[in-house]
Amino acid sequence: MISKIGIIGAGTMGCGIAQIASQNGHEVVVVDKETLQLEKAKAGLDKILSRLCEKERITSEDKIAILNRITFTSEFIQLSDSDLVIEAIVENIDIKHEVFKAVESLVSESCILASNTSSLSIASIGSALNKANRCIGIHFFNPAPLMPLVEIIPAVQTDEQTLNGAVELIKNWKKTVVTCKDTPGFIVNRVARPFYGEALRIYEEGIADFATIDWALTELGGFKMGPFTLMDYIGNDVNYAVTESVFKAFYYDSRFKPSFTQKRYAEAGFLGRKSGRGYYNYKEPNANKEPNKDRVLGTYILDRVRCMLINEAIDAVFMNVGSPTDIDLAMTKGVNYPKGLLAWVDELGHKEILGQLQHLFDYYGEDRYRPNPLLRRMVANKTKFFPH
Ligand code: NAI
Repeated sequence: MISKIGIIGAGTMGCGIAQIASQNGHEVVVVDKETLQLEKAKAGLDKILSRLCEKERITSEDKIAILNRITFTSEFIQLSDSDLVIEAIVENIDIKHEVFKAVESLVSESCILASNTSSLSIASIGSALNKANRCIGIHFFNPAPLMPLVEIIPAVQTDEQTLNGAVELIKNWKKTVVTCKDTPGFIVNRVARPFYGEALRIYEEGIADFATIDWALTELGGFKMGPFTLMDYIGNDVNYAVTESVFKAFYYDSRFKPSFTQKRYAEAGFLGRKSGRGYYNYKEPNANKEPNKDRVLGTYILDRVRCMLINEAIDAVFMNVGSPTDIDLAMTKGVNYPKGLLAWVDELGHKEILGQLQHLFDYYGEDRYRPNPLLRRMVANKTKFFPH
């Protein structure tokens, strides 16, 4: 039974996870090396809970109880009676190794040691431990209390008991759990790459501007946010860094090639909303162009980005990164896609999507457009991901 939960890192993610754990009745210890950060975290959580009280989502008694169950401390020793420790510190493998080693020396034999990493391998993180079978990835999305999806990633060393324990706990927290293979980007950060990459490529070729591409994907495709608006939200520095790390981790597969445009925007300090300017100007909104609402152009853009996304989702099935159900859940619950990509290809027709990809592949002669073998097989066999 997982009762007491330790969290390392009182930043954005650590705080959000602590809030969820406490709201679900667990005793929580949040450890950070920076006392200032701990104070900030505590004050931040107080504010968030006050807002929930105002909205009548929780009572003021709930608020007090939630806060009382959480201890903020810089003393790692207070993690010692945890049943599960979730690490959410800086994304640096050497520092994570150090921290995991130190924590293992404090906790019991049965304590599960999890990482919230977005991009590092769980196998590598676990290699720092004497008992690596207790190591697992539990990947929340930002903001953790609001985003329903959690990816659970067993490493090659992870045992069944650890996996089952983690899955059961996070399901009890009423999160949507998907399990995925310990591969770069897990499900969401892998399958979503073309949403940014292909949109940037269309822009770079001069086919359409940012506003038009965003219009095509939102108005015609049903996506909540267009790729350029979304990149401006995430931050071009952050989004570029994820793309580059996935690209490198896939041994420079051209499907994941980062874009010069985004690199230059990041270098110029056009980071997005947080800097007042990204692909759009947030200080002078009137300076932004209106989209070209030509339906033929818009449909071309939507088809091109969507067939690349679908190809990526199919590749994730093909390479056993996750089950078709989990891959569709991940994209609808993790990044709010209007439909699961695999359900979408079933609906649009596998032959149609293969045709779109084959056309791009023939036209450009670039490997990034190669249709996945599973797609070809499904066309040949006339099969669907979700036949009923
Ligand atoms: P953050 O920068 O907001 O917080 C990190 C915290 O860790 C800081 O308070 C820092 O003082 C503390 N820290 C650093 N080294 C430490 C050490 N050796 N011992 C104790 N505390 C230490 O970072 P954020 O955004 O919360 O990310 C944390 C982790 O979660 C990273 O692995 C990141 O990849 C992952 N992640 C981040 C998401 C996001 O959108 N921010 C989404 C999902 C995962």
